[in-house]
Amino acid sequence: MKKLEVGILGATGMVGQRFVSLLEHHPWFELKWLAASERSAGKTYAQACNWRLREPLPKSVRELTVHECRPAPAGRPGGAPQLLFSSLDSKVAGEVEKEFAQAGHVVVSNSSNYRMEPDVPLLIPDVNPDHLALVRQQRKLRGWKGMIVTNPNCTAVGLVMSLAPLERAFGLEKVLMTSMQAVSGAGYPGVPTLDILANVIPFIGGEEEKVESETRKLLGKMGDGQVKMGDFAVSAHCNRVPVEDGHTETISVALKAKTTIRDLVEAWRTYRSLPQERDLPSAPKHPIIVREERDRPQPKFDLNVEHGMATVVGRVRECPVLQYKYVALSHNTIRGAAGAALLNAELMKSEGYLD
Ligand SMILES: NC(=O)c1ccc[n+]([C@@H]2O[C@H](COP(=O)([O-])OP(=O)(O)OC[C@H]3O[C@@H](n4cnc5c(N)ncnc54)[C@H](OP(=O)(O)O)[C@@H]3O)[C@@H](O)[C@H]2O)c1
Repeated sequence: MKKLEVGILGATGMVGQRFVSLLEHHPWFELKWLAASERSAGKTYAQACNWRLREPLPKSVRELTVHECRPAPAGRPGGAPQLLFSSLDSKVAGEVEKEFAQAGHVVVSNSSNYRMEPDVPLLIPDVNPDHLALVRQQRKLRGWKGMIVTNPNCTAVGLVMSLAPLERAFGLEKVLMTSMQAVSGAGYPGVPTLDILANVIPFIGGEEEKVESETRKLLGKMGDGQVKMGDFAVSAHCNRVPVEDGHTETISVALKAKTTIRDLVEAWRTYRSLPQERDLPSAPKHPIIVREERDRPQPKFDLNVEHGMATVVGRVRECPVLQYKYVALSHNTIRGAAGAALLNAELMKSEGYLD
């Protein structure tokens, strides 16, 4: 199969680097085009990017030129490929992604700007693949030749992955989540050392609102061309902690149906969805991994299970205030960002949206 050429908007950042790394050996997509700010444009990727990943910078990308984030004028050959992954700073993502979608590109975005727009799919392919149909509304309403599809906030992903099997099997009534979020979630260079070393910062601007609203959209039901938000309450407390990668969350839930801890664990362990059925290249074989040890999951040991695409759950027990409580761990720049967008694009390809 001939690979589909792809590009990255915001290629030099923390998430952009993850895209570069995950695309290196991708069976369907080939990275051909990179873009970032004016600061980086005109340089080679190796010059423009402060490579922060442990795996080496792929040779095939080192000498690629970094472009400005502008679509080629209509009728002019060259320019960006049709499929673009976006990991732009949200200050500029709104305008830039719109320009590319207007110009006919399919923008698979990490940024928060369009996630809650009623005609923009906010996707976790393992949870709500049917929401992709919203792009039909988007085309009608906005008249774009291309489209924008988004993935959730990195904290919402782990939460929703762990809630989806419970919603499917028992129904959700109330959710209370407290996060311990890694510093890589704040981009590069991110949080100043003097603020975060030996410390916990109990505030991440806009994060709690994003987690609360996105969770209800992701677990909402599609009907009449729109998403009806999930009818359960969500309360989020978000904290930054001195961990490099991996968001840990403590979660309490009240469920609609009576159940047992054993049934909860069974629901997680047996959960499968469309990406597993279609064997999409980035899909985890087991979306939810349940650990039995009393002190797991931990970012140090459990972060990279299923190549960073699974949510690891543990410490399942009764909650005297709600009903049950547990801990969930998710990789914020893989499952919470670049890997999530890649899986979205794989879903789109398998549904024929990229033909
Ligand atoms: N980090 C995470 O865990 C995570 C998870 C989910 C979603 N996200 C979202 O993904 C996006 C990227 O996050 P990040 O952590 O990778 O941020 P980052 O490290 O700060 O990278 C930002 C990228 O945007 C580019 N950029 C900045 N200003 C620009 C401008 N005026 N015009 C064009 N490009 C510009 C930067 O290019 P230069 O290098 O040239 O400045 C860089 O490539 C954000 O919207 C973030 O909220 C991040």
